[in-house]
Amino acid sequence: MEKIIIEGGYRLEGELPISGAKNAALPLMCAGLLTKGGLTLHNLPNLADIKTLASLLTELGCHITYEKDGWDRGLGQSMTIKADHITSTTAPYDIVRKMRASILVLGPLLAREGEAIVSLPGGCAIGNRPIDLHLKGFEDIGASIELKEGYVRSSGKLRGGTIYFPTVSVGATENILMAACLAQGTTTIENAAKEPEITDLAQCLVAMGAKITGIGSSRLVVEGVPELHGAEYTVMPDRIEAGSYAVAAAMTHGELELIGKNLPEVMTGTLGILKKAGLTFINTDKGLITRLTNDKIIGINAVTNPYPGFPTDMQAQLMAMMTLCEGASVITETIFENRFMHVPELCRMGADITINGSTATIRGIKRLLGAPVMATDLRASMSLVLAGLAAEDITEVNRIYHLDRGYERLVQKLEACGAKISRMKTDNI
Ligand code: UD1
Repeated sequence: MEKIIIEGGYRLEGELPISGAKNAALPLMCAGLLTKGGLTLHNLPNLADIKTLASLLTELGCHITYEKDGWDRGLGQSMTIKADHITSTTAPYDIVRKMRASILVLGPLLAREGEAIVSLPGGCAIGNRPIDLHLKGFEDIGASIELKEGYVRSSGKLRGGTIYFPTVSVGATENILMAACLAQGTTTIENAAKEPEITDLAQCLVAMGAKITGIGSSRLVVEGVPELHGAEYTVMPDRIEAGSYAVAAAMTHGELELIGKNLPEVMTGTLGILKKAGLTFINTDKGLITRLTNDKIIGINAVTNPYPGFPTDMQAQLMAMMTLCEGASVITETIFENRFMHVPELCRMGADITINGSTATIRGIKRLLGAPVMATDLRASMSLVLAGLAAEDITEVNRIYHLDRGYERLVQKLEACGAKISRMKTDNI
């Protein structure tokens, strides 16, 4: 295994390229199952999750080719998914347990092949995370669902219908949206999630010949078509990665230009909160410049909410920053029930945080102190890296395979902007 070593206290400065969004790329890759025509995706991040999903798609019979030329130039890699013959409709436990997003093959397989057998993902580090909304949605548009031996067995000819989601779910909206494209009738999704990654998926599906209206709203209407054709699509930039590096700039009293298209548009909820916390953002031709306005972090109240609210995927990073705020901050997590695992580790670095149910109160301190730390999920791990960049002395972040799932070239990007950061092998953790 490897760990990341950070010598804190160095100001970050320069241009930092933002990669393609993992959470957009994963559903877009699954959309490749919907056509025999081939789907070429550009600006894919080079991440462990992308490789895991590519291996699942290959197991289902897809032929996948990469074109990596653009990667060294910060343009990401391209991938073509050819799903001429789907040879299996089963997503096995071994892959689904590694990556929950594998559940997103269910909709496309069911729509195209009339059946899908997908392992139940089970719990994960940030909570229980059921998939009941996905399954109810498939039933509402004509599928039969049976749970057996840890697997979801779904079958039937999809005929469309109206689905009302009682809770906003990104994954359930994406899964049903993909399946509805090939259903026989019209599907209406009420209370659909509005995250920019869903808009990205919907626009790609339209490029493949799908008939979708209401894109970007909480009511999506999909008129099914008999088949979709091939297309080329460029994945949107990662708004969570961009938000994380904006926090890095602020915590090190530095200034970064985040390079990526349309960042202000896709970062609505994040920018609002970060501005309240004392950050300035300036639009440029290439992206967004960010720094502290008055060289101080201001205590705030923040509540995570579905888009356009403040994203749960930024909560841990915001909390790392708030450890150094003037006064105190209150952060409430409303999306996942167990998403404060970074708190004990931040406290080991000197942070003053108390938790009461789903609310954390953070009293600002003057400085964080480096320590060996580890986290159990992706964003929590990033919050520890951010704390390490600002902390005195050395911070060692262990279990960095979480970071490899979601932050492309993390060490190289930060190093290029002045951080003292490196990776090294570890034998004991
Ligand atoms: C996606 C993102 C994840 C992000 C989350 C919320 C990907 C690959 N992952 O996850 O990074 O943190 O959105 O923005 O895009 N729920 C149910 N039943 C269901 C589905 C969800 O009760 O069938 C609940 C969940 O437990 C959670 C809430 O709905 O409390 C939102 O979850 P959801 O939006 O579905 O998250 P994911 O799509 O899994």
